[in-house]
Amino acid sequence: MVDDQRLPRHIAVIMDGNGRWAEERSLPRLAGHEAGTESVRAAIEECAELGIEALTLYTFSSENWVRPPREIEGLMRLIAERLQVELPELHGKNVRVQAIGRLETVPELLQETVAQAQRVTANNDGLRLNLAINYGGRAEIVDAARRVAEAVADGRLRGEDVSEEVFAGFLYAPELPDPDLLIRTAGEARVSNYLLWEIAYAEIVVLPTLWPDFRREHLLQAVVEYQRRTRKFGGLQDDLL
Ligand code: IPE
Ligand code: IPE
Ligand code: MG
Repeated sequence: MVDDQRLPRHIAVIMDGNGRWAEERSLPRLAGHEAGTESVRAAIEECAELGIEALTLYTFSSENWVRPPREIEGLMRLIAERLQVELPELHGKNVRVQAIGRLETVPELLQETVAQAQRVTANNDGLRLNLAINYGGRAEIVDAARRVAEAVADGRLRGEDVSEEVFAGFLYAPELPDPDLLIRTAGEARVSNYLLWEIAYAEIVVLPTLWPDFRREHLLQAVVEYQRRTRKFGGLQDDLL
């Protein structure tokens, strides 16, 4: 069972396997993405109920642009539509919505929907729902490096003062703690350019479940697995000291 005293503060999820779920049913890939929205609801509900501080969901990567245009358009529309439809309920659950990624190059409808969700939920102090949209871990580090360079050029910062803490302050969501737990579905054991800086010491749990089949019990299962792990952060296990 889940130990309420040792919950991860921040859970990050790579929601994978929508395409395979659809293929297994001879459905178009977009049907898999649509079915996956129910899993998103389940993950949010469970995190909100457990009292998790932040949940970051990988909705579209900076590499996903190589997919067929129809799938990309469908995905962008789906993310915007679901966010619009779910907004009142998210707000009612005290969820605070935010986003990371290069939002400036996604369709305007999606940009506006995200901005509206951010505005409406800005004063909520429950679960922080962080949507990674057109997100790439390397792009995030490059964007931060550019802003650090600008700050140094403007004289707001000295090069020798750039520490890990200072640099992290230039990332997309510096107010969030680093993810403690990274969940990836559909059995792939890779990070696919996700939160490269932030997952330095995250515990990784790979589940075989395809994302559209993911429900609240799978989130609990991942948290239980997380709680079985010994986090060492480069040190020694307590009981070996
Ligand atoms: C994850 O499912 C959703 C996105 C990448 C947007 P996939 O579409 O990658 O599903 P598979 O990997 O083809 O099964
Ligand atoms: C990662 O999944 C991106 C999202 C879940 C949005 P992918 O399916 O794009 O990752 P790869 O291509 O298998 O590494
Ligand atoms: Mg995939």
